[in-house]
Amino acid sequence: MHINDIQVRGFSSSDIAGFLEYWYDSDPAFLRSLGVNPAKLPQRKKMREMLELDMERQGRDGNRNSALLAIALQGTTVGVHELTHLAPRTGGNGLSFESGIMHAHIWRPENRGQGIALVSYVRAMQEYFRRFGLDAVLFESPIHNPAANGVKSKLGIGASGEGRMHWPLLDGPVRTLRYRVTPGELPAIEQRMRRAWTELRHRVEEC
Ligand SMILES: CC(C)(COP(=O)(O)OP(=O)(O)OC[C@H]1O[C@@H](n2cnc3c(N)ncnc32)[C@H](O)[C@@H]1OP(=O)(O)O)[C@@H](O)C(=O)NCCC(=O)NCCS
Repeated sequence: MHINDIQVRGFSSSDIAGFLEYWYDSDPAFLRSLGVNPAKLPQRKKMREMLELDMERQGRDGNRNSALLAIALQGTTVGVHELTHLAPRTGGNGLSFESGIMHAHIWRPENRGQGIALVSYVRAMQEYFRRFGLDAVLFESPIHNPAANGVKSKLGIGASGEGRMHWPLLDGPVRTLRYRVTPGELPAIEQRMRRAWTELRHRVEEC
């Protein structure tokens, strides 16, 4: 696998089926391991309609303001990044935000643990800074999610403290590690990503 095989691009209508499969056809035990209560998800049809509406709106706006990005491996979408809790800039024009919380979901287990997120996190942050003029991208990663925290650690992003998520889809409050990345930190993060990627490829080739 080459680093350029991993791309982050606008989420499109053809990505909706994979998105729905992940949330509605995954093993409920997997969703619960993320803290999600499957019974609290909106109906599948409702979720499809919301995504279709978003795509329609994005089509009109030239796909500039969507908070959903597709993670592609050799051209095939394998997951998404999402930005939630966008905090509008005081006195702004409604298109610029101070911060947002970024999420990552690689849909199939066989695509996880290969370094895809290592690359896609950096690409997605670059795109979110560009799209929303953010001062910072925030992360709230469940403390008991080694992969989500492992990616940050490999990118050299240190946690700023602990938090608690109380989101409607969750079974209950989830303890998190908080992270904050500013645009000025991205070049160093990208360098660390490239180093970690090279080390990972060497390790894979040795196996
Ligand atoms: C979290 C997630 C996006 C990470 O993506 P990924 O491509 O699998 O991550 P990477 O392969 O880049 O892993 C980076 C590091 O994380 C750590 N890591 C990954 N999977 C791990 C696991 N199952 N257990 C422990 N550490 C793990 C490792 O330190 C890894 O570094 P390594 O290359 O030295 O092994 C992905 O695993 C995923 O989508 N999981 C399901 C949804 C989810 O948990 N989303 C996040 C929060 S809700």
